[in-house]
Amino acid sequence: MKKISILAIAFSTFLISCDNQLASDRDPIEDKVDSLLAKMTLTEKIGQTAQRGTSSRVKGPLSEELKTAVREGRIGSLINVMNKKYVDELQRIAVEESPNGIPLIFGRDVIHGFKTIFPIPLGQAATWNPQLVREGARIAAVEASTFGVRWTFAPMLDIARDPRWGRIAESPGEDPYLASILSEAYVKGFQGDDLANPSSMMACAKHFVGYGAAEGGRDYNTAIIHEPLLRNVYLPPFQKAIDAGVQTFMSGFNELNGVPVSGNQFLLDQILRQEWKFDGFVVSDWNSVTEMIAHGYCQDEKEAALKAATAGVDMEMTSQAYDNYLGELIDSGEIDLAQLDRMVRAILRVKFRMGLFDQPYRIDKPEVVLSEEHLEKAKNSAVQSVVLLKNDNKILPLASEKKLAVIGPMADAPLDQLGTWVFDGNQKDSVTPLTALKESLGTESFNFVPALDYSRDRSELQFQAAVDAARKSDVILFFGGEEAILSGEAHSRAHINLPGAQERLIKELKRKTKKPIVLVIQAGRPITLENIINDVDAIVMAWHAGTMAGPAIVDIISGKANPSGRLPISWPKSVGQIPMYYNYKNTGRPASAKTFVGIDDIPRGAWQSSLGNESHYLDDGFTPQYPFGYGLSYASFSYDNMTLSSDTLSEGAEMIIRFDITNTSHLEGVETAQIYVQDKVGSITRPVRELKGFKRVNLKPLEKKTVEIIIHTDDLSFYNGNNQLVLEPGEFSVFVGSNAQATMRKDFWIR
Ligand code: BGC
Repeated sequence: MKKISILAIAFSTFLISCDNQLASDRDPIEDKVDSLLAKMTLTEKIGQTAQRGTSSRVKGPLSEELKTAVREGRIGSLINVMNKKYVDELQRIAVEESPNGIPLIFGRDVIHGFKTIFPIPLGQAATWNPQLVREGARIAAVEASTFGVRWTFAPMLDIARDPRWGRIAESPGEDPYLASILSEAYVKGFQGDDLANPSSMMACAKHFVGYGAAEGGRDYNTAIIHEPLLRNVYLPPFQKAIDAGVQTFMSGFNELNGVPVSGNQFLLDQILRQEWKFDGFVVSDWNSVTEMIAHGYCQDEKEAALKAATAGVDMEMTSQAYDNYLGELIDSGEIDLAQLDRMVRAILRVKFRMGLFDQPYRIDKPEVVLSEEHLEKAKNSAVQSVVLLKNDNKILPLASEKKLAVIGPMADAPLDQLGTWVFDGNQKDSVTPLTALKESLGTESFNFVPALDYSRDRSELQFQAAVDAARKSDVILFFGGEEAILSGEAHSRAHINLPGAQERLIKELKRKTKKPIVLVIQAGRPITLENIINDVDAIVMAWHAGTMAGPAIVDIISGKANPSGRLPISWPKSVGQIPMYYNYKNTGRPASAKTFVGIDDIPRGAWQSSLGNESHYLDDGFTPQYPFGYGLSYASFSYDNMTLSSDTLSEGAEMIIRFDITNTSHLEGVETAQIYVQDKVGSITRPVRELKGFKRVNLKPLEKKTVEIIIHTDDLSFYNGNNQLVLEPGEFSVFVGSNAQATMRKDFWIR
């Protein structure tokens, strides 16, 4: 008896000390949130869940209705208020006149720069340089925060396998590993070291999730992704954003497996909060709550409010279903007040973390905007984003004595080079390739005939002038591509070749002049080249590279900079090949170069099963035009001496993959060495290979370096058919090389 009571005392002392421990571990912000929440009325609580805003183009005086709503605590956040005076005034009203003085968060899409525009995210992904991406995001935050923007709706982390989808321009590409590395870089860059610093801009991981899998690349469309694929491919960049400290998520427009993601409890609650322990808040996409009516998932606004709130959307962007119906839903008991409190608690927690209660006001620093340093960084990012796709007879870099004909609609397109989602970038700040050429070469060394006024121009009226200019020159520098408006939201294309009369013009130039053609593409997606690939001698993919696109491109073609960009996406030969991605499954009848018979080689009257019966297209084969990870340099590199530190690993172990890279040329250059792993047999089928590591390596002329990349067995685990993360014993292959078709290989076992 005595023994038991001593034990009981000891146990309760232990519990008390644990309790004290927990109390002292408790983040003081939680106490602040609780005491604030206790003072708030229902109207104010619902108010925190409302994000109001206008389209970025709407101008005019600050509306009295908006001021009153802020004064009464009926708004938690605003989007697209870009007049500094209005920002200051609205924040002052919120802090000084609203019932509990809760500051507003001002949000904006600052996607790839604010005033200093960096390459589109797909272009930044092509740098394979997270440090550069991080610096770019930091610069965007420094500039935007001086306008009061403390929250950006970026990074977009949608894995995209379909270049017809216009928003592929905003994406990190097709690969979950590269996208995860970039996710971390963006979040850390936007948010800086301290979220409470007034120059920090809170990030938002969007669009959760599956938006990039829109059927046929048609925007807003249905996504069907089975759960292991979701977990293995689409979710990793989002989870990484949480590790990097992201405070907000955006639920997307799309449905996933039949349930719109803005009303999807499995995603927003089970995965995000319960599994990943996310304690920030979720904002809907623009009207995505009420769009669940059009999806056919909700009868009316009230049901949309019910389903979104129950699923886990804390803040509603622009539509007002919460504003109109949350009160009623709470009165009727359909939504528990505790649920609303949870939503508001998340929003307030984030506002405290942002330091808004201590420093709600923006700090004006006009001098940081478009500073020399920012422009230099933007140029560097643009240079590193450029991918050299083709360079026959080493036509590039262009020898300085060559006389150039500068032709094409994108040579002097200051708006278009900025790309999609540049609400705040100004084309007057753009330096175009034409301007940069004039500055570096002087006007005598080239003839400029755009021939087409814009990318979709179909007129052939200026073709002859272009041919004449080309005849007087040694090399044709053709600036082609897409205008900015042809990619981005709702701008999907069924044909992704060069639009308008560009292909015809290229063919005409080649046929009539036989001069070498260097095609520089500025576009928001890979462009199919099947009609012109044999007419051009070199191809430079420059994406939409932003404010400093011109000087960056000129540095590359003149050889002042050596191209180092690598494709973050497979480049299809034709639209018919899409989706074309490197981490596909093998099938029971993998395509094979040995047995492949192309459409023109089939004998007439061939017997039905005489053709190998493998997984390919008769007309376009089975490989892309250029694989994921591909990109040329003016230098050349060779790989050898690959070794693995061990050929057998047990769970928890690391393996060092070692190899030599030699620069076999007389030019300094950067090679991006890539490691791909194949898990040969799995409890569910595994991709033919997956990127597991990479390193950018700078090599002097003829220099040789030994490179080490370490992989951990955790990197080899995957979600199985029961959606459990497992490491399955068995045989693996590791490939090392310069793109996803790398062939240097070693095998190892997990036991
Ligand atoms: C887009 C989001 C964006 C939001 C706010 C929506 O149309 O899908 O990515 O953040 O608008 O501008």
